[in-house]
Amino acid sequence: MKLTDKFGRIHDYVRISLIDKCYFNCIYCNPSNSPARYDTNKSILSYEELYRLIRILVRNLEVKKIRFTGGEPLIRKNVINFFEMIYPLKKQYGFEIGITTNGARLSDKIESLKNFGVDKLNISLDTLNRNKFIAITGKDYFVQTLSAIEKATGLNFKSVKVNVVVIKNINDEELTDFVEYFKSHPVTLRFIEYMPFAGNQWDDSKFFSWNGMKTQIEKKYSLKEIDGDGKVSKDFLVEGENLKLGFISSISDHFCDGCNRLRITATGKIKNCLFANPSELSLKSLLMDESITDETIVEFIRNTLKSKWIKHPSAKELAELNQNNMMSIGG
Ligand code: GTP
Ligand code: 5AD
Ligand code: SF4
Repeated sequence: MKLTDKFGRIHDYVRISLIDKCYFNCIYCNPSNSPARYDTNKSILSYEELYRLIRILVRNLEVKKIRFTGGEPLIRKNVINFFEMIYPLKKQYGFEIGITTNGARLSDKIESLKNFGVDKLNISLDTLNRNKFIAITGKDYFVQTLSAIEKATGLNFKSVKVNVVVIKNINDEELTDFVEYFKSHPVTLRFIEYMPFAGNQWDDSKFFSWNGMKTQIEKKYSLKEIDGDGKVSKDFLVEGENLKLGFISSISDHFCDGCNRLRITATGKIKNCLFANPSELSLKSLLMDESITDETIVEFIRNTLKSKWIKHPSAKELAELNQNNMMSIGG
């Protein structure tokens, strides 16, 4: 039976963080001066535990899509073997597999990921300027990331999305450059509102709303609203070009009404919202114990949805709460 919350929202999309580490220091996620909040590697779900969890999600709870996030998911050891391991589940139950990655070390893995059933890639790229890339991420991987995006576009994935977190006075002048660059590519460009998380130095002066982004782009291009595939973005077609654009307006216009997502942290804790506290108990203790039945785990997961709120608090309240960190959730 499907996973439904008390507001009738069906949760058929699960985001699983494969690892709570990343070698980038994106200023909006993992700035170098923020205290390390990594959980230890020993406490993360093993591939066997993940396999059992995914089987329960797709078989017992009718989950239709699983997106793997991080930190940076592709730095997990033997990650390709993991996708090979879950491929039979995909063939049997027919769910979609997505990965959200920084793209820097994607190129050499991309064919294998495609061969083992990955349908959708979302890749972060916040600037088209190499020096700015270094300033934003702390690392010199601009060329590698861009070439991974180029490679992805030639491999027939169901979708390739380029994620741009827009920060005032950092990259807000580049939006039309992104359209110009990607208009010849089969990708969806997504411009994302900067969200507050613990240690990410969010404040109002750096915030750039989706409306502002749209106005900026419309100085040069006309946009036509379309029905996109996602629930989190407002989707448009750039007229006269074959390019889809999405704006992710988490802060200025939340999209909680249509929320269909559940999150599982790398250590196996369930988060029923991106901004909610994780469950106290980790799924790890249940998944690793063969004497615990799948039905018990199903009930545990269902119970975590009971406390899901109708919408997340405002940006100001979130900034004051200062409790979540992106590294363990993966967005
Ligand atoms: P697909 O719809 O599967 O393509 O993924 P997505 O766009 O939801 O995920 P992605 O990992 O590419 O994240 C893009 C941005 O959306 C990131 O900034 C995420 O933090 C944000 N995001 C994803 N899910 C949610 C959500 O449930 N609520 C909010 N507020 N933001 C989200
Ligand atoms: N605000 C908005 N998006 C963010 N991401 C990471 N931190 C933030 C933030 N503070 C995005 C990354 C990536 C996705 C997982 O989340 O750019 O695309
Ligand atoms: Fe790493 Fe992604 Fe966070 Fe950047 S946004 S630090 S690439 S996890």
